[in-house]
Amino acid sequence: MKQVFDQHLLYPLPAVLVGALVGDKPNYLVIGYICPFAFGRYIFLSIYRKRHTFLGIKEQRSFSVNIPSESLLREMYICGSKSGRNYDKSKLFDTFYGELKTAPMIKQCPINIECKVTEIITREEGEGVIGRVVKSYVDEECLTDGKLNISKVRPLLWSQGAGDNLYYSLGPPLDHYREE
Ligand SMILES: Cc1cc2nc3c(=O)[nH]c(=O)nc-3n(C[C@H](O)[C@H](O)[C@H](O)COP(=O)(O)O)c2cc1C
Repeated sequence: MKQVFDQHLLYPLPAVLVGALVGDKPNYLVIGYICPFAFGRYIFLSIYRKRHTFLGIKEQRSFSVNIPSESLLREMYICGSKSGRNYDKSKLFDTFYGELKTAPMIKQCPINIECKVTEIITREEGEGVIGRVVKSYVDEECLTDGKLNISKVRPLLWSQGAGDNLYYSLGPPLDHYREE
């Protein structure tokens, strides 16, 4: 029997590290509420107004999306629980910049995407940020014959809606169903 479930249920979502320059310091936070928009040419993310990183996103009108591997669990814990207001998260990673120069990216993450803010939408205490993808980068080791091999990235899948608030690993690929 179906039961009404009074929580957001569109899960799992990839857990990512979003970066922005706050003043002259890179700051990173964990974002779970994120998705591609316009078939990947834009990215939408949901962020509370009070987040330190949001100051930088507003100021610089740019941000980065960094996809971590399972090896970054400790850094994910810190970036998802401590605020840049009173903890220097810039020292956790090696930062690099791409075309925008104002969207700090994390070398240790196998995938990095730099975005230019096009819109900020306000709803209650949350802000929806839409960024146009300017350039994307991937570690060579995560490619197979020039194509992204997501198994090599080992992304973290977040499942807060199920009630456990845990990260999960990506499983092996399934054979596509095909008509004979
Ligand atoms: C798995 C996970 C997902 C999160 N998703 C979001 C999110 O989508 N939006 C948000 O505003 N905060 C989210 N957070 C909380 C922020 O990452 C956290 O409050 C962080 O410490 C804020 O850092 P800052 O103040 O330096 O920006 C999430 C945390 C975790 C652990």
